[in-house]
Amino acid sequence: MSEEKYQEISRKTAELIANQLRTKPDSCLGLPTGRTPLACYAFLSGWTQSRQLNWSKARSFALDDYLDAEEHQTFAHYLQTNLYKNTNQQSDQQFNPRFFDDYDGVIAKCGGLDLTVIGIGSNGHIAFNEPGTARQTYTHCVKLTESTRQANSSFFGSIDKVPIYAVTMGVATILSSRLLVLIASGERKKKILDEALNGPVTPENPASYLQEHKNLTVLTDW
Ligand code: PGA
Repeated sequence: MSEEKYQEISRKTAELIANQLRTKPDSCLGLPTGRTPLACYAFLSGWTQSRQLNWSKARSFALDDYLDAEEHQTFAHYLQTNLYKNTNQQSDQQFNPRFFDDYDGVIAKCGGLDLTVIGIGSNGHIAFNEPGTARQTYTHCVKLTESTRQANSSFFGSIDKVPIYAVTMGVATILSSRLLVLIASGERKKKILDEALNGPVTPENPASYLQEHKNLTVLTDW
């Protein structure tokens, strides 16, 4: 990974989101958290503040969130801090799976996801669909694996402070998005992404289900 390459894929991802919003201002966006999308959100924030982008009709759906985290460590807070507060999106159009019994029903009522950006975990998870997750899953609660908790421990100081439970869009929810953009940063994602895209489709590597999607864009910085 080079910083230059990372900035390049982040700009491309931001451009895909910006173009989506220009083409269809009331788009439904599926939005990830974690380290990888941070630069993309910085581009989007900048463009919105210089009035090149208008979020007034856009709807956003967080892919997942912790269930047992303090508020400042939730993904709702992450999205608020890194993106939402820099846009003119209405707060009642910023959805989070923690607050709905039927998140898939809410998404469907809004017309379905138009564009969803996802990351990949080093164990192949997409959103918090951990290895072993079935293809026909909708938004559901999960117990996080040790490897995911380890990977996210830098946000919490130590692994024992990382939440154990989360809620996530399911694999079927993600695959229902009309467009999918997968962003992967850093060599540690290379092997699992290669297996996901070129190996068998298997619940052991949830990202491999993406092979079944007709409109997947993959952006990597290596
Ligand atoms: P990361 O997380 O962007 O922090 O690497 C990606 C993921 O776990 O989906």
